[in-house]
Amino acid sequence: MTTTTRIPTIISYQMSLSLASFYKYLNGSLFFLSLIATLLPLASPYSNVTLSSLGGNLEVMVYLPHAVKPSEATYYMASRFDHGSMIGSITSKNEKTGAKHLLFGSKNWRQPHNSGWPESGIGLASEFGVGDDGPLCQYRCGWDGVNDVTNGVLGYEDAKNGEPFLKIGVGALIKGSCPSCDSTDNYRFNSPYEFAELPQWKVFTSSSSIVSMEHEARVRNYGYRLHKDIVLDGNVLAVTSVLTNLGDTAFSTAWYSHNFFTCDGIPVRDGYSLDMDIQGDKGKLYEEPGVIGSWAVPLRTFANIREFKDHVTVDVARPLNGDTRIKAEFVKDDASKGAFTLHGCTTSLRSELPDVINNRIPMYAYNLYLEKGTFSPEPQILLHLQPGQSTSWTQRLVIENEDEGIKGLPLLGKSVARTDDGSENVWKLIAAAVIMVGAVLSLHVRQRVSARDNDNGRRREDYSTVPDVA
Ligand SMILES: *[C@@H]1O[C@H](CO)[C@@H](O)[C@H](O)[C@H]1NC(C)=O
Repeated sequence: MTTTTRIPTIISYQMSLSLASFYKYLNGSLFFLSLIATLLPLASPYSNVTLSSLGGNLEVMVYLPHAVKPSEATYYMASRFDHGSMIGSITSKNEKTGAKHLLFGSKNWRQPHNSGWPESGIGLASEFGVGDDGPLCQYRCGWDGVNDVTNGVLGYEDAKNGEPFLKIGVGALIKGSCPSCDSTDNYRFNSPYEFAELPQWKVFTSSSSIVSMEHEARVRNYGYRLHKDIVLDGNVLAVTSVLTNLGDTAFSTAWYSHNFFTCDGIPVRDGYSLDMDIQGDKGKLYEEPGVIGSWAVPLRTFANIREFKDHVTVDVARPLNGDTRIKAEFVKDDASKGAFTLHGCTTSLRSELPDVINNRIPMYAYNLYLEKGTFSPEPQILLHLQPGQSTSWTQRLVIENEDEGIKGLPLLGKSVARTDDGSENVWKLIAAAVIMVGAVLSLHVRQRVSARDNDNGRRREDYSTVPDVA
């Protein structure tokens, strides 16, 4: 009898021992599982559609906004860029050579990707506003010094903290909810705001040549509707936006596409070049307030600039460093229509704003922003809407293959032409492993740091870094 009672005791004791260690182990692996779960979106798919033309030689991948396909993850859910503007990547195959090149893409910009981070746009990500703090522009307000241009926000000033305001293209946000929001009540364009309600988008048409979507948001007596048509026809991609003022007050806002350009995943370096429709040879070409503010370095440190009568070329001369930030604000040029051509990876990308060309919509300013991860020409336009009024405008892109050696530049892409030999996957695995180890280490460091100096654990990225005032 005693043995029969003892054995179970021992077993249960041992069981509880091993359960304890199993529990410990489980805890550890749960930690890893949750870590993997948070990192998974890195590699996991985001809701998207692909447009295709030229017999499949040209493909344009568009990330869909929130709730279009409710079961899928959304690429961008943050408070800065228009959620309908995430035209993620363009893949162009040269029919003659068979070489494939990737324009835009996410490899170089704010990785690992965080859907909730305001800066984490991609491709043609566009913003309503001037890309600066403040609900209204009050200083250096565009080429014409126009006052009362909103930074893409409606109903900000008459909202109390905790009450909603609108950011056009984003939806209803809560005033005061951002990490860098402080007692000045200032609008922080680049700090994550909480949503008052999640934005709703509807896709009307989706085929291999067009995706058409719409969203509207209202707060008090403010409101807007935003409709987007993204159309691929041959080698021309046209992104048309229609904005309607649903409120009872007129407003003006700037709008620009950030053009998060790199190609084949290559960080910005020699071989990238840009042609801007800005008149050269006229004295002062641009200003660099960021250099004075000392977060930026002069453009000429990294690029050769050539001025012609009707255009200006910017040839990147050497690789940008990891912490290099460059922002040039071009001085007013009445002749500029905000067009440009980007060259890289034996591909060119011509961007035009037809509504500016035919004088229907005025320019607001023209900036150029560079980091290692992006070569961003940013023509900005000025929209003005009376109550009930709609306005539409198009960004038109022409994608072309270029011959090697054009302009005598060491063109990017020769040695890195994408081949699907699977080696990429190995690198992806290695990268994922490195990122995981890095994440574990940084978690430890973070815990230790916050334990040590009680800095309430704010991460560097929680601070609004002026830099991407692009
Ligand atoms: C795009 O969506 C498809 C599913 O429709 C998915 O397989 C793919 O991984 C997605 N692409 C990206 C880059 O998220």
